[in-house]
Amino acid sequence: MHPKVSVIVVAAGSGSRLGQSVPKAFVSLGTKTILDRAIETIQRIPHLSEVVIVVPAENVDDVSEHYQDFKIISGGLERQDSVAAGIEALSECDFILVHDAARPLTPLAQFERVVSALIAGAEAVVPGIAIDDTIKKIATTGEISLTVERDGLVRVQTPQGFKADILKNAYATAEQYYTDDAGLVQNSGVRVELVMGSRDAFKITTSDDLQRAIALSAPIAGPIRVGTGADVHAKSDGGVLQLGCLEWPGEPALNGHSDGDALSHAICDALLSAAGLGDIGAVFGVDDSEYKGASGERFLTETIALLTLRGWKPLSVSAEVIANSPRVAPRRAEIEQRLSDLLKVPVTISGTTSDGLGITGNGEGIAAVASAIITSN
Ligand code: CTP
Ligand code: MG
Repeated sequence: MHPKVSVIVVAAGSGSRLGQSVPKAFVSLGTKTILDRAIETIQRIPHLSEVVIVVPAENVDDVSEHYQDFKIISGGLERQDSVAAGIEALSECDFILVHDAARPLTPLAQFERVVSALIAGAEAVVPGIAIDDTIKKIATTGEISLTVERDGLVRVQTPQGFKADILKNAYATAEQYYTDDAGLVQNSGVRVELVMGSRDAFKITTSDDLQRAIALSAPIAGPIRVGTGADVHAKSDGGVLQLGCLEWPGEPALNGHSDGDALSHAICDALLSAAGLGDIGAVFGVDDSEYKGASGERFLTETIALLTLRGWKPLSVSAEVIANSPRVAPRRAEIEQRLSDLLKVPVTISGTTSDGLGITGNGEGIAAVASAIITSN
């Protein structure tokens, strides 16, 4: 089954309880806004067909420019009005998820549980988590009037998922405001199913919540180190060039005790240097018979293993090839993919000539420089 899943992200509230100078969805969590962080996960939802983002009227233009693939519309006075506007803007789909932008750390798995329940036949689905505090009711006079029986109570979250026609019909006939979409739908006689929610899907309402979200979304826990590496190898007369763990037919191999993959070696040096482990020559031995003809992949894999052993993990790598040929640009995506797969972090590659100067300019050899950022686990 290939269902079409559409998502309405409601981000049109002002965030009066948070009390910031910008509407809540545009408050920063460090490097990203609350809305951007929410969208980052939403983009990875299985069977995603359309995203409608509902924002305050004055933000429609800005957000539209930023998210050109999505429909951006302005919201209404109450959340329910904003959802209604979202429903109006939707194209044809099978399922609709309604999600609060104010729950930016909701894990992808939670979206997946909701979608799976819909695919399995549920008409309406809410994620919920157990209540672990004792709940009491307060009388208008201020004193506690009763302790609520906690068994069977859940706190519900978003995304709430619905069969498209069910949500549309329920909204078309709604005559009052409800505190959530499932409440509105349930009032039209539809059975609402529960799936597991998560603590990370909490709603940012007050500044305490914001602080918690900022702490949780900080990408790095340990110290950061940066390392630099470089390598140069002379071109040989024959063979096939190995560069960036790829073969380059039509380009002669590089000389070296190993396979001469200068790009991989520069990256190894950057990683080793960041971790304070020296360089490839010191660690693996430039003439060690064990590494005769060794591939760039082998050096990179062993370098990562060494870092891991000492509690380091790479965060990103960037490298540049300096050569007349080969040109990097036509295969940039392929090299980046290959090295990112090997190192399990984003790797970006650039290329330059040396303007005809020196050994890389006269075609004698190929050079590479790299930098790596690592952190401790
Ligand atoms: N929302 C909306 N349109 C409204 C009100 C709320 O799209 N008229 C959205 C909010 O942007 C938020 C979600 O609904 O993502 C949940 O609402 P809430 O946490 O109450 O956000 P605000 O209404 O912005 O906050 P406050 O109630 O403190 O003003
Ligand atoms: Mg509100």
